[in-house]
Amino acid sequence: MVWLFALVGLCTPLLAAAAAVSIAPPSQPNLAPKLLRVANGFIAPDGFNRSAVLVNGQHPAPLLTGKKGMKFRFNVENALTDPTMQRATSVHWHGLFQRGTNWADGPVGVSQCPISPQDSFLYEFTVNDQAGTFWYHSHFSVQYCDGLRGPFVVYDDEDPHRHLYDVDNESTVITVGEWYHTPTPSILDVPLAHSTLINGKGRSVSGPAVPLSVINVVKGKRYRFRLVSIACDSNYMFSIDGHSLLVIASGKKHMVMLCNVTDIGYVVQ
Ligand SMILES: *[C@@H]1O[C@H](CO)[C@@H](O)[C@H](O)[C@H]1NC(C)=O
Ligand SMILES: *[C@@H]1O[C@H](CO)[C@@H](O)[C@H](O)[C@H]1NC(C)=O
Ligand SMILES: *[C@@H]1O[C@H](CO)[C@@H](O)[C@H](O)[C@H]1NC(C)=O
Repeated sequence: MVWLFALVGLCTPLLAAAAAVSIAPPSQPNLAPKLLRVANGFIAPDGFNRSAVLVNGQHPAPLLTGKKGMKFRFNVENALTDPTMQRATSVHWHGLFQRGTNWADGPVGVSQCPISPQDSFLYEFTVNDQAGTFWYHSHFSVQYCDGLRGPFVVYDDEDPHRHLYDVDNESTVITVGEWYHTPTPSILDVPLAHSTLINGKGRSVSGPAVPLSVINVVKGKRYRFRLVSIACDSNYMFSIDGHSLLVIASGKKHMVMLCNVTDIGYVVQ
């Protein structure tokens, strides 16, 4: 786990500098920004009910999608109220380069001040030369461990591996991440996760047998699973019993690699 602490003193000069940075020209007319409302709410993804940091009422945060070449606009509204967790926020779009828009990158104390409760921040950036499976998360202290983390897919109309799969949609995005029963600010020792969530569902060792995630497939079809680790700390090995996985991309890199998962599994980073 990366413990990041805000250097609030740095913010004033950086904010002044940000005003002078010009934004890359939009590659299409401005769309209305998508609202991402960050608020506290009770959830029990592994059967244990706790207050968490949710985006539009959800953990994992909702899947964001777009296409290579698009301008993205996200209005992050801070409606956090629970004093057991951080109440300021910010969002980092993990893996995206932000060339020309580093002010929209998200790390508090580096490129922006935290977004105060009852305030909002409009992130705008163009993804010209990247496609693939990314994620987004809070970049204020360790707030992301309390729930503000979700998948972000940039599709490519000219994907060089298009001939290798039949299905690639919302149902083939798989998030994997660990979950804690304790709000992160009150964890003073080495954090130990209580469960692993796959698409926001999981079970803890002594917890109830709550439903797990199910992805339905049709025999014979080829599915492009977009596997994304939204973990704070953990590393995972991923495999599907009795199946081989053909890895066609990792991060932004294209590759073709047959993993015999009965032997090695696939490490999610
Ligand atoms: C979770 O706890 C909160 C606060 O005590 C309560 O309002 C809510 O109904 C609980 N949810 C579930 C599913 O038990
Ligand atoms: C994804 O595509 C499959 C196959 O075409 C279809 O059955 C399924 O309903 C789609 N799911 C979503 C969420 O679009
Ligand atoms: C994977 O390993 C199993 C067991 O050794 C073997 O039967 C299968 O043919 C292998 N698959 C591939 C694609 O190499």
